[in-house]
Amino acid sequence: MEGSVDQYAVVGHPVAHSLSPFIHSLFARQTGQSLSYRLMDVPPERFTEQVYEFFATGGRGLNVTLPHKTRALTIAHELTERARLAGAVNTLAARRDGSLLGDNTDGAGLVQDLTANLGVPVRGRSILLIGAGGAARGVMAPLLALGPQRIVISNRTAERAMALAVVFAGLGAVEGCGFGELGAQPFDLIVNATSASLTGELPGVPATVFGPQTLCYDMAYGRADTPFVRWARTLGCREAVPGWGMLVEQAAESFRLWRGVRPLTAPVLAALTGRPSAGG
Ligand code: ATR
Repeated sequence: MEGSVDQYAVVGHPVAHSLSPFIHSLFARQTGQSLSYRLMDVPPERFTEQVYEFFATGGRGLNVTLPHKTRALTIAHELTERARLAGAVNTLAARRDGSLLGDNTDGAGLVQDLTANLGVPVRGRSILLIGAGGAARGVMAPLLALGPQRIVISNRTAERAMALAVVFAGLGAVEGCGFGELGAQPFDLIVNATSASLTGELPGVPATVFGPQTLCYDMAYGRADTPFVRWARTLGCREAVPGWGMLVEQAAESFRLWRGVRPLTAPVLAALTGRPSAGG
C-alpha cells in the first residue's frame, strides 16, 4: 500500500498488558522513525498461521512473548547464535528475501541493564541464578560471556537446574542444584529468573546466600516492588532491583535489529518507572 508505514507487533496470549507498544512508540518518536506497533493476541494453535499471515501482508517485525517463544524458534528460517543458545526467540525480523530471522534479545537486555545502567561488575564475580525455565536459559550465554567466576543455577526442581548446567558447561564454570544444597556463602550477584513473583511468591532459597555486598536482580517488575525485591532488601543486601531496565533494553535491541539504530533507553526507562532520567 502506497504511503503505508512499516508494521510491527508483539504477539502473545494474553498480551493486553504488554508495555511493548508504549516502549516502541517512544523509540520511534525519539529516532524519528515512522512505524506502527500493535498488540496481537494469538492462541498457541493459531500462532504459526497468524505469524506467516502478518509477514505475508507486509509486517516487518514481531516481538514474541509468552507462551510462544519456543514455537517461534521453529518457524524462523534462520536463527542468531544467541537465539539458538537461549532455545527461544523473542524477536522475528523479515529480511529482504522474505525469510524470517529469529533472534533473542532478552539476555543482552539483562546484561546491558546490569553493566551499562547499574554499573554492576560481573567479571570474576559469583552469580546465583534462581530458576531453570525459559527465562533462566535465555540469559545464561550472555552472562557467561562476561566472564563470571561461576554461575550456580538453583531451582525448586533440582533436576532442571542440573540439566541446564550441563547445556552450558562448555561456556564456563556452571553448577546446578536444588535450593537445599545452597551453602552459607553469599553471592556477589543473585538473579531471580523464576516466575514466582508473578503469583506473589518467593523462591525458597536460604537467606544465607544474601550478603551485605550482594546485588539482587528480579527479572520480574511491577508497579509496586516485587516480593523478591522487598525480601532481598529486608535481608540487608547492597541493592535490589526489579527488571524494568531489562524490559527496555531487550526492546532497544529488537528495535536496533529492525531499524538499524539503537534508541536511547534512559528516557524510556524514566517514563516507565517515573524516575528522572540522567540529564533530565
Ligand atoms: P519461564 O519461561 O518464565 O522461565 P517456566 O519455564 O515455566 O517459565 O519456568 C518457571 C520457573 O520458575 C521454573 O524454574 C520454576 O521452578 P520449577 O522448575 O521447580 O517448576 C520456577 N518457579 C515458579 N514458581 C515458583 C515458586 N513459587 N517457587 C520457586 N520457583 C518457582
